Amino acid sequence: MKNKELTKNIYYIGVDDKEIDLFEGQYVVPNGISYNSYVIMDEKTAVMDTVDAHKGKEWLSNLKTVLNGKRPDYLVVLHMEPDHAGSIDLFLKEYPTAQIVSNPKSFQMMQAFFEGIQLEGKMHSVKEGETLSLGEHTLTFVSAPMVHWPEVMVAYETKEKILFSADGFGKFGALDVVEDWDCEARRYYINIVGKYGAPVQTLLKKASTLDIQKIFPLHGPMLTENLSHYINKYDIWSSYRPETEGVFIAYTSIYGNTAKAALKLKEILEAKGVQVAISDLARDDMAEAVEDAFRYSHMVLASPTYDGDVFPYMATFMHHLKSKNYQNRTVGFIENGSWVPLAGKIMKEKIGTLKNIHIIENHVTIQSAMKTQDVLALEGLADELLK
Ligand code: FEO
Repeated sequence: MKNKELTKNIYYIGVDDKEIDLFEGQYVVPNGISYNSYVIMDEKTAVMDTVDAHKGKEWLSNLKTVLNGKRPDYLVVLHMEPDHAGSIDLFLKEYPTAQIVSNPKSFQMMQAFFEGIQLEGKMHSVKEGETLSLGEHTLTFVSAPMVHWPEVMVAYETKEKILFSADGFGKFGALDVVEDWDCEARRYYINIVGKYGAPVQTLLKKASTLDIQKIFPLHGPMLTENLSHYINKYDIWSSYRPETEGVFIAYTSIYGNTAKAALKLKEILEAKGVQVAISDLARDDMAEAVEDAFRYSHMVLASPTYDGDVFPYMATFMHHLKSKNYQNRTVGFIENGSWVPLAGKIMKEKIGTLKNIHIIENHVTIQSAMKTQDVLALEGLADELLK
């Protein structure tokens, strides 16, 4: 989607990145990611954010095509994470007379990211509720701390009623890929912004006072219709409410015996009409497992005992759940152990420290390999989950 006019005088100048191996150093993005950037052409010209440094040249070329010889008056910086702010220095080299519109925290971060950056006389600092008139278009700035960094702002454009929402309402996936929004926006939100549910709720409350007709995020498609669908998803995710009634089973297994028990539980639950998702934590995408833990109302963790602890993939998974503020769910456990099974106790203790978790006390213990009596215990666990 190159240099597309999205609405009169507002252009897309972002880039797709399909070369990236891991987004933010940890997330697989099989369909790439877009770094969105926009230009508002009016009496004054404002560029909305930049892009990751390794796509800077392509972005600058998009910008020049749209400007068609004009010089931009403003670069608006809503978020300083390098996937958006990585080309600020490139922009300033090309357009040294432009003003940077942002806030004191962002200006500090600019000095930290770009050694020797010359900002004197170029900083146009804005506060909550302050406006910037471009002519027919006016931007109103709304602070959104911790959605997803402390300096984040969003901007509301009053003429076209557009919310420039920074990372909010973003999604993995390049723009030339057609795929379901909910799935990759959920994986993005839970893993990247998931810890900050309360700040997102605050932003949603502020946004509810605005008449928003379009949402232009920094990743993924521009949202121009059926906005209540996306806002409702954000409300569910940021308030840690389950989105889907069902059970997510996260297992890890050394020789396949714990896996057999996890798969048997899936079969039992599905026979009872329950919606089930399952992940092998060693082989499947960890970020998708974290996403599914937040998506479903119930979860079962299954792990062998290993070195007197849980198997490492389960330890990593539980660490992610804690760091993303996993809460408000019912959780059951399956452990395996050939001499001293301990995984059940350890998982219960760890998950029990999280907020508002209903623990199913009777965990299933497999000794080495699943046997007939274990299937009965799994039936019992399924019944308790359904209570
Ligand atoms: Fe897309 Fe928080 O950066």
